[in-house]
Amino acid sequence: MKNITLLFMLFISTISNAQFPYELPKLDYNYDVFEPIIDSQTMKIHYNNHHKGYVTNLNKALENAKFKNETLENLFLKMDSLPLAIRNHGGGHWNHSFFWKTLRKEAIFDTTTNLSHQIIRQFGNIDSLKKNIIESGTKIFGSGWVWVVKNHNNQIEVCSTSNQDNPLMANQKCNGKPLLGIDVWEHAYYLKYNSKRGEYLSNILNIIDWQKVNQRFDQ
Ligand SMILES: [Fe+2]
Repeated sequence: MKNITLLFMLFISTISNAQFPYELPKLDYNYDVFEPIIDSQTMKIHYNNHHKGYVTNLNKALENAKFKNETLENLFLKMDSLPLAIRNHGGGHWNHSFFWKTLRKEAIFDTTTNLSHQIIRQFGNIDSLKKNIIESGTKIFGSGWVWVVKNHNNQIEVCSTSNQDNPLMANQKCNGKPLLGIDVWEHAYYLKYNSKRGEYLSNILNIIDWQKVNQRFDQ
């Protein structure tokens, strides 16, 4: 394993910092905090039904597994040899935990950060990066996630994964340290946006905690 991957794993472990049996993490905000971009009904169902379901099913899948006490991040590295339920529900739990922490009501993009400088070098400006995210997220066939990652060359990449896969899992084309991830499963937007996934993506980019994304980029 490359040293940089080990560093990524160490960093990411400090985010989830949890092992079996997993618990639904508390939200730092109320369900209606992101109205009108994310309606409170969607937030409530997304968190209480979908995310909670991933946690419950992950614990069930791990219950009798000899590797149940390994961190999720370690399991992601050998995901191809593990039961599909661990991939789906482990990814579901990790991705949603990461997603909730990436959103912020008062979102400000600081143009003086290292992240900003890198975005300007690679994309020209933040709007161009956002356009890439919207395009990538809109193109996903079926359910999945669109990600911004820092790759192994310290470059920013926009990429996507299917279902509940993520850039920490082995053999993903979309690979690296996740900086932000946006859920494009229909359960994340359909109540308010119906089939207009692009509009959902465009709007949710207004509530990204860029300060958090910058911290992840720097660490
Ligand atoms: Fe979701």
